[in-house]
Amino acid sequence: MTEFTNKVVIVTGASGGIGRASAVSFAKQGAKVTLADVNAEGLEQTAAMIKADGGESLTVITNVADYAACENMVAKTVAAFGKVDVIFNNAGISGERALVIDTPIEEWQRVIDINLSGVFYCTKAALPAMVENGSGVIINTASVDGLVGMGTLSPYTATKHGVIGLTKSTALEYSRKGIRAVAICPGYIVTDMTETGFAQEEKDGFNAMIPMGRGASPEEAANFVTWLASDKASYMNGSAHQIDGGLLAGIGLVD
Ligand SMILES: NC(=O)c1ccc[n+]([C@@H]2O[C@H](COP(=O)([O-])OP(=O)(O)OC[C@H]3O[C@@H](n4cnc5c(N)ncnc54)[C@H](O)[C@@H]3O)[C@@H](O)[C@H]2O)c1
Repeated sequence: MTEFTNKVVIVTGASGGIGRASAVSFAKQGAKVTLADVNAEGLEQTAAMIKADGGESLTVITNVADYAACENMVAKTVAAFGKVDVIFNNAGISGERALVIDTPIEEWQRVIDINLSGVFYCTKAALPAMVENGSGVIINTASVDGLVGMGTLSPYTATKHGVIGLTKSTALEYSRKGIRAVAICPGYIVTDMTETGFAQEEKDGFNAMIPMGRGASPEEAANFVTWLASDKASYMNGSAHQIDGGLLAGIGLVD
């Protein structure tokens, strides 16, 4: 028996980065994993990685900004695996960098639809199966930008603050039904999002600000996610947790 033997886990944004690393880790620990993403090719690569490890997964192309697609993702999971124990609402985009005044209304809406409505839609779609089971864990990916502001990324920052609020409301409403909800607040994790979204000098700047002096690998984030989803974290609920190498610890970094 491993930590997630007989458990069913849905991971959104499973085509790369934190989602892929987490899906692979859940599967290695015995879970049957539904891999959801808009990127079909990436999904197949993640599924192949899980298969190579001897694990089991189901791929469901899912746009989390479309509620019907989220319902389909959950329905396919229940049809294939019988239940939902964990959902990791991780899919997200950074959006275009711009000052508030220069951010097009369509871009604001696009980021809200994916990063915030997407988490709400997936949560709403997964909850009936969890309530029926009398147990479940919901992990939502916020960001350190859910705890502090970030210039030139106002839609992203607003959605990540919103994800933390949604996580708290979910915990208040469903704890008595045996369901936990927690948010993670990653700092700088080295993924496509950061490697394509930030210029090298900005990444050098992050490394200089981070007490540990580096970004994390997606696997380091996945270790935290799978622990939070496990029974070892059975009293973690309604809270938001940084994984940021000390980034938000304060001012006065000593060399
Ligand atoms: N990398 C970081 O430093 C960092 C820091 C804080 C928070 N995060 C958050 O972590 C999460 C994962 O990001 P990542 O760094 O692994 O980036 P990533 O770009 O590698 O992965 C994001 C995944 O989400 C998918 N996705 C995008 N839009 C989607 C949609 N509408 N429906 C379904 N899937 C969609 C992408 O195809 C991609 O596979 C995001 O929510 C991101 O905001 C990342």
